[in-house]
This record gives sequence, structure tokens and C-alpha cells, in this order.
Amino acid sequence: MKILVTGGAGFIGSNFIRYILALGRKYTVVNYDKLTYAGNLANLEQVSAHPNYGFVKGDICDASLLESAMRGCDAVVHFAAESHVDRSIYEPSPVIRTNITGTFTILEVARKLSIPRFVHISTDEVYGDISPNEFADERSPLQPSSPYSASKAGADLLVRSYVRTYDFPAVITRSSNNYGPYQFPEKFVPLMITNAMSNQVFPVYGDGKQQRDWLHVEDNCGGILAVLEKGKIGEVYNIGGLDLEENLTLARRILQLTGKPESLLTYVRDRPGHDRRYALNCEKIKDELGWKPLISLDDGLRQTIDWYENSGPWLAGVRCGEYLTYYEKYYLNREQSLHAIASAGPTTSE
Ligand code: NAD
Ligand code: TYD
Repeated sequence: MKILVTGGAGFIGSNFIRYILALGRKYTVVNYDKLTYAGNLANLEQVSAHPNYGFVKGDICDASLLESAMRGCDAVVHFAAESHVDRSIYEPSPVIRTNITGTFTILEVARKLSIPRFVHISTDEVYGDISPNEFADERSPLQPSSPYSASKAGADLLVRSYVRTYDFPAVITRSSNNYGPYQFPEKFVPLMITNAMSNQVFPVYGDGKQQRDWLHVEDNCGGILAVLEKGKIGEVYNIGGLDLEENLTLARRILQLTGKPESLLTYVRDRPGHDRRYALNCEKIKDELGWKPLISLDDGLRQTIDWYENSGPWLAGVRCGEYLTYYEKYYLNREQSLHAIASAGPTTSE
């Protein structure tokens, strides 16, 4: 099976490529990625010379390049996205372009080429805030809160419209918060781990009592593979770690595991529109595809911390340049930057 993976140089995409090539069977992968700030070919160093792996640098909004990369593929797994909620608040334009227009472009190309199978990677954030004691299942309403989650909900609905209207052979996954090796340190877990390593503060948004369902990336890769191989066309599958944790508790656990003091915890101005709680019901993928998460949050965190502590040149290669500018603007000068966003007009980029 020849698979076009979009966004394969990012965190989950690169883990997925390494995961399926390590199975040592039947898969050939073409990684199609624009290499934005979040795309990093160093994530794929282990497989870059693998005979079943190829790379095309390209934008998912570029229909003709996409068509030449996708021609002859048996399946598409579509990860490529602008994936960070905070950045989507600071600068929504690239998020809307990639996540909505990019997904539309891929759908059109895949439809034109009659690609037999399409896995769309959506997110639990499309369900929005989930009330205490409730869990979103695949039929729960989509009530996104941020430009990121709204763009992902738009893409998710577009995919579903193609299934219904054109008999397009798509399946959708909605996973919870992933963590694990090779995650860009703008997200909570790698940011806290790498800050701990350099004795920097742990910036906790608001009161830190927001809850997330944490899923080790390798468990997500197993779920996506199950959906690719056995998922029913037109269906949506939630994929969660079933390890619900408050941000503050998770931050304290990372401090404990890295041997750093509680005094590093620092409460900072909250993210605008911050969702309090994500919680998934994952009975469907368990019952229908026989998948369940295998890595506990505690084991996964230990393994992830160990990976970052030994990631030497990889970490030096991402914690530099654009990342430091971003960090300075939205962490070291957070008050001024968020105040400017709250009081200014729209931002544009491209
Ligand atoms: P990431 O930010 O680490 O990687 C995104 C990748 O997409 C990068 O390699 C980037 O270069 C590429 N990309 C961005 N814009 C592109 C464009 N226009 N054309 C081609 N490539 C482009 O993201 P991630 O955390 O690996 O997330 C992957 C997918 O999983 C996304 O669709 C995201 O919405 C979804 N998801 C992520 C999480 C999570 O916890 N990280 C949870 C649920 C769902
Ligand atoms: P994040 O990793 O950005 O994922 P998402 O917002 O998509 O769930 O954030 C996870 C949680 O951690 C979320 O409630 C926001 C919070 N958070 C902080 O408290 N401080 C930080 O520096 C970051 C990046 C996130």
C-alpha cells in the first residue's frame, strides 16, 4: 500500500511514519510537507534512507504539486495543519488557509484521482468545552472555541460533506492531546519539560485547573493505523488516552520527575477563550476496531522526559531562531502582547 502522508515532518505525522515503516511490511510512504516552523526533517532522520520512504516539499494548497505527489497512491493520511491554539489566536490567517483551504484542495485532488481511502486527522477540540462528568462521543455537537478548533471543525465537516455528496471514501479520527518524542516545544508537555531542563518557569495559564485527556503519540499512531486498515467509510472515531488530568497536576508531576522545585510554577495571563475541559468517550474504536491505549500517562511521561533529556542536537535545532522570538513575545512579554491582541484589529500574514 502506497500512502501519501501530509504533514509527515510534524510531531504526530513523523511518529506515524516511523511507526508504520517499523512494522516492516507492505507500506510505502510519500511524505508531503511544506516544512513550516513546525515541520522538521530531523524528526525523520531514522527513516530518511529507508527504501519505502520518500519526501516531497510542498504546500497542501498547491493542487498541481499535490496531484503529482498523490498520483498512484492507495491512501492518504492527512495530518498537515497549523496545529497550535495559541498561534491561531495570535495570527489566524495561516490557520484558516492551511486547515480549511488546504483540506479542501486535498479533497478535490483525491476525488479527481479516485484515491481509494482517505483518513482525515481531526481533533477532540472540535467538540469544544465538555461539562464536568460528561464525555464527548462521535455524535456530540461540534462547538469549537478557538480559530484553530473552528478551522478543524470546518475541515472535518467538509470531509463529511464529501462522503455524503460524492461517496468519497473518507474516515475521520478525533484524538485528544498527544504527547511524546519529537513534539515542538510550543505545546504544554514539551514546553514544561524543556523549561525544566533549563530551569525556566512553568507558565500556567489562568488557574491551571483546565483538564485535558492525554494520549501518548504511539497509542494515537496505533489508533490511526487501525482506522486506516479497518475503519468504516464515512465514520468518525474518537481516540483518547483516557488519562484526564488538570494542567496544574501534570505540571507538578513533570517537576517531580525532573527533580525541579515547585517554585518554578508561575501563573500567567490566561489564553483568551480557553476551553476548561476536554473529555472523550472512546467506546466506538474499542468495540469496533479493537483498539485501546497501551501507555499510561505516568510511563509515557517518564519515557518522554527521558527522550528530551537525551535529544541533544534535535532540541538545540528547534529551541532557536523563530521559537525564541515567539517565546520572548508571548511568554516573556505576555501581558503586553496579549493586551495588544485584545485591543488591536485583525492580523494578516500571507
Ligand atoms: P505539527 O504542528 O507538529 O505538524 C504539522 C505539520 O504540517 C508540519 O510538519 C508542517 O510543516 C505541516 N504543514 C503545515 N502547513 C502545511 C501546508 N500548508 N502544507 C503542507 N504541510 C503543512 O502538528 P501535530 O501536532 O503533529 O498535528 C498533526 C495533526 O493532528 C493536525 O491535523 C492536528 O490538528 C491533529 N491533532 C493534533 C493533536 C496534538 O495533540 N498535537 C491532537 C489532535 C489532533
Ligand atoms: P496545548 O498543549 O496548547 O494544547 P491544547 O490547547 O490544544 O489543549 O495546551 C494544553 C493545556 O495547557 C491547555 O489547557 C493550555 C495549557 N497551557 C498552559 O497552561 N501553559 C502553556 O504554556 C501552554 C502552551 C499551555
